[in-house]
Amino acid sequence: MDIGVFIPIGNNGWLISKNSPQYKPSFDLNKEIVLKAEHYGLDFALSMIKLRGFGGETEFWDYNLESFTLMAGLAAVTSKIQLYATAATLVLPPAIMARMAATIDSISHGRFGVNLVTGWQRPEYSQMGMWPGDEFFGNRYEYLEEYITVVKELWETGKSDFKGEHFQMDDCCMLPKPEGKIPLICAGQSAAGMGFSAKHADYNFCFGKGLNTPTAFAPTAERLIAAADKEQRTVTSAVLIMIIADETDEKAMAKWEHYKAGKDQAALDWMSQQGAADKKSGKDTNVRDMTDPTSAVNLNMGTLVGSYASVAAMLDEIDTVPGCEGVLLTFDDFIQGMDDFGNKIQPLMKSRQHLYDASGAA
Ligand SMILES: Cc1cc2nc3c(=O)[nH]c(=O)nc-3n(C[C@H](O)[C@H](O)[C@H](O)COP(=O)(O)O)c2cc1C
Repeated sequence: MDIGVFIPIGNNGWLISKNSPQYKPSFDLNKEIVLKAEHYGLDFALSMIKLRGFGGETEFWDYNLESFTLMAGLAAVTSKIQLYATAATLVLPPAIMARMAATIDSISHGRFGVNLVTGWQRPEYSQMGMWPGDEFFGNRYEYLEEYITVVKELWETGKSDFKGEHFQMDDCCMLPKPEGKIPLICAGQSAAGMGFSAKHADYNFCFGKGLNTPTAFAPTAERLIAAADKEQRTVTSAVLIMIIADETDEKAMAKWEHYKAGKDQAALDWMSQQGAADKKSGKDTNVRDMTDPTSAVNLNMGTLVGSYASVAAMLDEIDTVPGCEGVLLTFDDFIQGMDDFGNKIQPLMKSRQHLYDASGAA
């Protein structure tokens, strides 16, 4: 099972709380985290794109670096780990994104891939006059389908003459082509999103669910298997999980309770309003349900809270879910979290034993 880290490109990572570690994103912070990830044998690092934060007392995600430029910098200082940037496809023309990716492919010598997102939070784009209108909630993945068709033509042939509803290429040229195949990931949860992943992506990310219920996302992974079968392709799931670990289960749970007690309600309210703006929410195109009061504080991502041994055992359970071949980790404190994962959790994981030699050394 592959393990990746969802690096904190935005302030405070993924905890919308006054009681969690408060920090701003920087290249140096993300470099330190990715170098640790590489050192501990993690397989990949991903950064998201977020163009507007949620405000509140913690100014949640009001500070965000840009994903491609951050990964370009990280590509230059790493040597083994696979890196993924996220393309805000509404504001990055496909020929520009294709060229940026070819550039980072060159910097990283073939270690670069792209996470494709349609965007779901209107103000991220309307603030720049670049929201196409609310009909976009319904046709996001049709737009993305045209987008990736152009990108693939450019990567594969160096040219595109594609003419569609959203994009019209006119002898568009893009060289150099990438050194190798650039892997594509997507995080579709809706039928349309998963249909897109089934057709075009190499991996699909999904949200883990609940507290200490590591396999609760299995039905989502099953939906992806069915969608990929229809396309006669193999596309595997990777699940997004937050780890909050300590020496004992009790100590770890106390931290989680403390974070929840400090939730930044104004930021959470803002996020819920944005999720609700998509009127199709809950039906099909968008399944961003933020109403669960137990874990809205970390965007409802699946959360594993416990001793290092408990967390290792729960991560191994994920490896039993059919169609899941990866875990994308977030931490309450990314520096401490990476070290604890590398030194105290991963060595206990059966699913990561391939990293260790007979003496147990990495
Ligand atoms: C691991 C992961 C990373 C994501 N990264 C981003 C991102 O960087 N920017 C963004 O706007 N949405 C991001 N999303 C949201 C997804 O692109 C997608 O819109 C969401 O999972 C809902 O699925 P749907 O689009 O099929 O409704 C991410 C989701 C996941 C699970």
